[in-house]
Amino acid sequence: MQPDDVPAGPAFDAWRIGSCEGAAALDRPTRDQLAWIAGYALLAPTTHNTVPQRFELREDDGALALWVAREAILPESDPVGRQATVSLGCVVENAAIAGAVLGFSAEIEPLSGTNAVRPRHDGEPDLVPVVAVRFRAGGERLAPGWLDAMRHRKMVRAEYDERVHVPPALLEELVATVGALYRGLTLHVLTDAPTRLFLGKFQELADTTVINRERFARELGDWLLPNDSDAGVGMRGREFGLSDRSTLRMHLGLRGEEELLPDETAGFAKAGNVGMRTASAVLVLTAAEDDFAHRLAAGRAYERVALRLVEAGFCAAMHAGITEVEAPNMALRGRLRTRQRPTVVFRVGRPLHAEDGQRPHASRPPLDTLLVGRD
Ligand SMILES: Cc1cc2nc3c(=O)[nH]c(=O)nc-3n(C[C@H](O)[C@H](O)[C@H](O)COP(=O)(O)O)c2cc1C
Repeated sequence: MQPDDVPAGPAFDAWRIGSCEGAAALDRPTRDQLAWIAGYALLAPTTHNTVPQRFELREDDGALALWVAREAILPESDPVGRQATVSLGCVVENAAIAGAVLGFSAEIEPLSGTNAVRPRHDGEPDLVPVVAVRFRAGGERLAPGWLDAMRHRKMVRAEYDERVHVPPALLEELVATVGALYRGLTLHVLTDAPTRLFLGKFQELADTTVINRERFARELGDWLLPNDSDAGVGMRGREFGLSDRSTLRMHLGLRGEEELLPDETAGFAKAGNVGMRTASAVLVLTAAEDDFAHRLAAGRAYERVALRLVEAGFCAAMHAGITEVEAPNMALRGRLRTRQRPTVVFRVGRPLHAEDGQRPHASRPPLDTLLVGRD
């Protein structure tokens, strides 16, 4: 069954992918299977919905290679490419999970471009190969329910219902999963009210800091699109709960084409604060090193945890401000009493107003526009 929060139109067709149940696993995937796996990988979240990944279907060695389009790495919000790398990690995880539903295990091989996941400078190539996901028959076959979770998952940026609790056994399972599967990462669980309040304030501070930087605001405005946009990338205001009119105001205002009232920018930052404060839990993935391998792993771990939460009836929203702006990042590190860097921060819960959980999915470009490479 397809989720009923998927709008009509080609920009949302990616979510209407089939489940292809019962397909037999040969020694390695066919080209059709690689394309199907890429279709699920496309449903993974990416920062600002920039969809920086490109897919190479390598039938000869049964691999899906991911390239990055550096034009899609945002210089203001992501100057060192951390957010793009975490995004690629989410893409890798969806691919690995879709492959495991078909009966393939996945091996991850870094390619030449791992140092190149950062904004493109003049004269540099745009497309670089970053990582290959190589599939072979064997390993633990995952249930098709994971496909449903990938099709249903979306960021739910609503106010949550703080009376809801995530079962402690589920939280323990998530911590154990991250510890077992992703080397150098730790999942921290924060549920107490004072910490959520503190994180909400820091999130608001981080968002206020960046939104008041003209170039950052302009970049955000470029990616925050009117609700009737038919673009395959970018975020629509309705995904943040904004009306058509407020979305247009924010889109034009952030781009400097209309004057925004102080209340309008403050409201945007405030929403993150309320979201954090009302979450059932705030989860933080910290990494032993701030390098490509750990950022990629953090994206993989986030996506696996987010899908497990969807399966259990919860939703999540990511907050990159705290991970990118240094002062709040240090404060969070202090609260967690860790030397590891907070690399992904997200809140978990259920929307206070059920209708907020029904906000439409984000768009995606057609898969065939993202294919690159030899085939
Ligand atoms: C690395 C990363 C960082 C993100 N940071 C934020 C953020 O700071 N605030 C926010 O509202 N959404 C954030 N998002 C969510 C994306 O905007 C969202 O995934 C994208 O628009 C696609 O929507 P979907 O996940 O609902 O499919 C982030 C996503 C990723 C992968």
